[in-house]
Amino acid sequence: MNFYILTLFPEMVRQALSASIIGRAEENGFLHIDAVNIRDYTKDKHQKVDDYPYGGGAGMVMQAQPIYDAYHALTEKIGRRPRTVYLTPQGHTFTQDLAKEMSLEEDLIFLCGHYEGVDERALEEIVTDYVSIGDYVLTGGELAAMVMVDAVSRMVPGVLTNEASGSMESFEGNLLEYPQYTRPFVWNGKEAPKVLLSGNHQKIEAWRREQSILRTKRYRPDLLKKADLTIREKAVYGVNDKKGV
Ligand code: ADE
Repeated sequence: MNFYILTLFPEMVRQALSASIIGRAEENGFLHIDAVNIRDYTKDKHQKVDDYPYGGGAGMVMQAQPIYDAYHALTEKIGRRPRTVYLTPQGHTFTQDLAKEMSLEEDLIFLCGHYEGVDERALEEIVTDYVSIGDYVLTGGELAAMVMVDAVSRMVPGVLTNEASGSMESFEGNLLEYPQYTRPFVWNGKEAPKVLLSGNHQKIEAWRREQSILRTKRYRPDLLKKADLTIREKAVYGVNDKKGV
């Protein structure tokens, strides 16, 4: 899968995405990440990419021309116009479902804004998806784009070496993941749950399922309302279909 990130800070993006699992997946050819510097496309003799907002107000606005030309050069190279995401607190909130959906794309373009915003006309020309990573405001779209690249990448086949770990995790079926333990059996005076050492896989699965439900009920009751629970589980854990938890 190919990610193209239009940004004024390509080094920031390259650095962060070259480490760890994403870096290894790129080396192994499962991903390709290209950070494009919008400033390379300015026609201004001082390399300027922003200007004062029409109508007044604080801050600067990124101009349409360098963004559109960077996008145009990129889509010419790709040979089509892929889904293009603008990172903005005004967008739809990013979710695991959207990460999965986007992982089916061959190419994805991200546009990272800065200053007080981007000239609306550039957005109208190129953007297909407006996405926010949460209800808070960042100084720019780069961190949000990196969050999305990370979450989408790990859904791409081959990126996670343990294939199972992409599916048995938090948000699957709207449940949080169960707690994990490893050696030593006793640490800091606390034992690991004995059932996990029993070798009885049915019992282990049942324990993990219970822990997932209890955790979700405690920390994310909003999710539990949407979770895939059996009628029996709903009764045992007090989940009411009509009124929620
Ligand atoms: N840019 C600034 N804040 C953002 C947010 N919360 N999500 C996505 N992009 C942003």
